[in-house]
Amino acid sequence: MAEKHSPSSLGIICRKSMLCFFLFASSLFMLSWYFVLHSTSSSGFIDLSLLPHPKFTSVIGNGNSSSWNRKDVEPSIGNRAILVDNEEQEENPQKKDDLGGVKCSSFDNNSRHPLKIFMYDLPSEFHFGLLDWKPQGDSVWPDLRTKVPEYPGGLNLQHSIEYWLTLDLLASEVPGIPRDGSAVRVRNSSEADVIFVPFFSSLSYNRYSKVNPQQNKSKDKLLQEKLLKFLTSQKEWKRYGGRDHVILAHHPNSMLDSRVKLWPAIFILADFGRYPPNIANVGKDVIAPYKHVIRSYVNDSSDFDSRPTLLYFQGAIYRKDGGFARQELFYLLKDEKDVHFQFGSVQKDGVGKASRGMHSSKFCLNIAGDTPSSNRLFDAIASHCVPVIISDDIELPYEDVLDYSQFCIFVRTSDAVREKFLLNLIRSIKKDEWTRMWQRLKEVENLFEFQYPSREGDAVQMIWQAVARKVPAIRLKLNKLRRFSRFGTQKDGELRKIPSPGNFW
Ligand SMILES: *[C@@H]1O[C@H](CO)[C@@H](O)[C@H](O)[C@H]1NC(C)=O
Ligand SMILES: *[C@@H]1O[C@H](CO)[C@@H](O)[C@H](O)[C@H]1NC(C)=O
Ligand SMILES: *[C@@H]1O[C@H](CO)[C@@H](O)[C@H](O)[C@H]1NC(C)=O
Ligand SMILES: *[C@@H]1O[C@H](CO)[C@@H](O)[C@H](O)[C@H]1NC(C)=O
Ligand SMILES: *[C@@H]1O[C@H](CO)[C@@H](O)[C@H](O)[C@H]1NC(C)=O
Repeated sequence: MAEKHSPSSLGIICRKSMLCFFLFASSLFMLSWYFVLHSTSSSGFIDLSLLPHPKFTSVIGNGNSSSWNRKDVEPSIGNRAILVDNEEQEENPQKKDDLGGVKCSSFDNNSRHPLKIFMYDLPSEFHFGLLDWKPQGDSVWPDLRTKVPEYPGGLNLQHSIEYWLTLDLLASEVPGIPRDGSAVRVRNSSEADVIFVPFFSSLSYNRYSKVNPQQNKSKDKLLQEKLLKFLTSQKEWKRYGGRDHVILAHHPNSMLDSRVKLWPAIFILADFGRYPPNIANVGKDVIAPYKHVIRSYVNDSSDFDSRPTLLYFQGAIYRKDGGFARQELFYLLKDEKDVHFQFGSVQKDGVGKASRGMHSSKFCLNIAGDTPSSNRLFDAIASHCVPVIISDDIELPYEDVLDYSQFCIFVRTSDAVREKFLLNLIRSIKKDEWTRMWQRLKEVENLFEFQYPSREGDAVQMIWQAVARKVPAIRLKLNKLRRFSRFGTQKDGELRKIPSPGNFW
């Protein structure tokens, strides 16, 4: 009998020790999470310490490792130390929290290592010429000291990031323009971190995508063809097959013809709705905010009780692709007293009305339409109206450093279309919680604000920083591709060819 028992008691011991080991391992795991969370929670909701160390980019830039600070790589708690600027925090402990938790230490005067950007001098027909600006003298660029060309108003403005980013690079060369430089223009492309292509592609789509009866092709198509020919003949493009290029395509239909050829570049987009993942994806590309069309709520002293409308929506109901939820929601919400559900896009005269509507609502609904994103989210942020986002595939700007759950409510489409679900959820959010989110909105709104000259922590600077965070991954990939470059197999250099989509990223 004893013999018969022993295997099973062994089994028990074995199981027991497995259990002990498991308990031990999981408590270690929990403990380590405790320390990690503890070490990060104090830094608030947006942690710029997660950004690459400014020295990081410069190290990558010239391959000089002597500027590495040992502190930067010494493991402390968690793996955060790799990216954290320990030194600066110690030296300037007071130098944080400019924006309710945003650490600005990486932007102080001493340690500023802006992203170095080479910008092609494309003919003006690709950029300010589209704004009816005429070049004077030899320069293809406006002289910002005399006059800054204006961007057309109205709905064109939503996708105007191309204008603000280009102006900022130009301004980086003009002494005396007060701006905050996360990026500077350099004239020597060998010294640049990235190569910027100043084509105002959204404006080109908005203004010139109609085919003129006398021509076979729209001006937008022609410009894209010209651009493609230009780029692929440049030594900068050939060097790395365009992988270090930054191309703007914020309007979902911009660059429609050339995107499949330019895919190795970093695209700056509104969302990925109309892109196959091998052409554009979160790993490679940068999502930028729309410019809001609703007026900012300056000196907002409203509160939960003074905003009478519970939930606000304005937009078209019937949309293609993924917009079906709008109709469903309309039928679910149309009879609710404190819900404003109105159709029609915001036209010129509608902006004032929509501004008043959003400024007097507690929550603003963002439902996927033709594309996963829309300017409505940024209108809501500018109105300090807590966004309720129903868009399963939405990608949000700078989400690697910004926690949207602190000022937005996300609802899965499948839940939102259930009877009563949405309103029960929203009504369950009481004054305290709403006020916290409203407070956050006021703190983050500047991150979505486009302006010239650009200032610290606005959308232009945030986009440059998002581009800077892509640089290490590009360098990694390029260096890997170089491993076997001494062997004849790559003849002209694998790096020069435009590879087929998918085998790079
Ligand atoms: C590397 O940086 C150090 C100090 O910044 C400098 O003295 C040295 O010349 C640099 N070396 C190269 C190869 O750039
Ligand atoms: C800040 O940077 C500017 C430009 O590089 C320089 O002229 C100025 O002396 C710096 N100020 C301080 C306090 O270091
Ligand atoms: C551009 O930069 C590279 C690398 O720093 C340098 O070798 C080259 O001489 C520079 N070219 C010009 C025209 O200054
Ligand atoms: C338009 O296309 C037709 C036939 O493809 C061609 O004969 C004609 O010359 C083209 N016109 C222009 C303006 O390119
Ligand atoms: C906001 O408040 C400031 C200071 O009280 C005031 O100077 C400014 O005119 C106000 N702006 C608006 C748009 O009311």
